[in-house]
Amino acid sequence: MWNRTHVSRVLGIEYPILQGPFGGNLSSVKLVSTVSNLGGMGGYGAYMLTPDEIIALDKELKQATDKPYNINLWVSDSDFSAGEVSEAQFEKAAALVKPFFDEVGAPLPAKPKAYPSRFENQVDALLATKPPVFSFIFGLPSQTILEDFRQKGIKLIGNATTLDEAIALDNAGVDVIIASGFEAGGHRPSFLESPEASLTGTFVLVQQIREKVKTPVAAAGGIADARGVAAAFTLGAEGVQIGTAFLATEESGATEYHRNLLHSDAARYTTLTKVSTGRLGRGIRSRFTETLAGHHDELLPFPLQNQFIVPLRKAATEKQQYDLIMFWGGQIAPVLKHTSAKKLFEAIVEEVPGYLK
Ligand SMILES: Cc1cc2nc3c(=O)[nH]c(=O)nc-3n(C[C@H](O)[C@H](O)[C@H](O)COP(=O)(O)O)c2cc1C
Repeated sequence: MWNRTHVSRVLGIEYPILQGPFGGNLSSVKLVSTVSNLGGMGGYGAYMLTPDEIIALDKELKQATDKPYNINLWVSDSDFSAGEVSEAQFEKAAALVKPFFDEVGAPLPAKPKAYPSRFENQVDALLATKPPVFSFIFGLPSQTILEDFRQKGIKLIGNATTLDEAIALDNAGVDVIIASGFEAGGHRPSFLESPEASLTGTFVLVQQIREKVKTPVAAAGGIADARGVAAAFTLGAEGVQIGTAFLATEESGATEYHRNLLHSDAARYTTLTKVSTGRLGRGIRSRFTETLAGHHDELLPFPLQNQFIVPLRKAATEKQQYDLIMFWGGQIAPVLKHTSAKKLFEAIVEEVPGYLK
């Protein structure tokens, strides 16, 4: 049986199909529970949540499913320390986005304040609520933290964008490694070298990790249907993590506009850019991303760039000026077929055996 793999066994799920967690309010309890209840594993991106919000979320998830699910955090959630952004740096970054604020008639935000890392407090909340699985990106938690999770029986999933990162995760003893290729939607979660120096495609990354690392690997980036799952398995993956295709379903936390865009011709054109948050990530090209392309050095570091983008996105949405927003999405969007997560999942499960014959 194709679905009986190390990944499905270690995570205690029927099908080694993981719904990729989405940060930034795009995850939903409905999507996570739909996928988990069907025998896969739903994932919720919680990096923006406070510890109390994480505890409340976990309660909701436990009510929505009695199957394994995953809560995801960002190990590194800030690229600057207090006082690092000078007045001149702020003015430069503000000048870049000012024409967009003028266009939607919204005031430019003031210079943002220091942003302390939330990770350790979020970890405490997870250890208290005990989700079945904890996944993380943008780094490797300390051995003490990893051991605390193991002691509570919580399975661990780390994300790698290079073979070196996979080896680091393997040495740290995680249960599953996600091989995150550059085709994927969302941020590039590199942590050993810069994301720009870590741009490996899923096809190569899965084979490299399978060859050199003993921890089971799940492929992420560019998989949206049974054909993609079968291809990943042929390359040595024992599971897959699917993001963009689930983001585009009505169960996700994405707006209707965003979901329709992912199913439209516009989604053929994606870009890897820092303009939305200050960290490199893949989304659909827009007038906003194209105007700011080439200005990466003038942006504020993550997450401060967000403090421009969040109010701009809100004002642009109210005025329906969607070309002033970057909507997240991966390169696989043009092959998407389903608007229901349930139907997407069921189609994959039904069709994979045909491809693996
Ligand atoms: C909008 C968006 C937000 C994401 N946020 C996170 C996140 O917070 N944590 C995480 O581990 N992965 C995140 N990802 C990556 C997905 O979980 C998944 O690995 C990726 O989307 C797989 O590639 P695909 O988009 O080609 O299917 C995000 C992806 C998208 C599209």
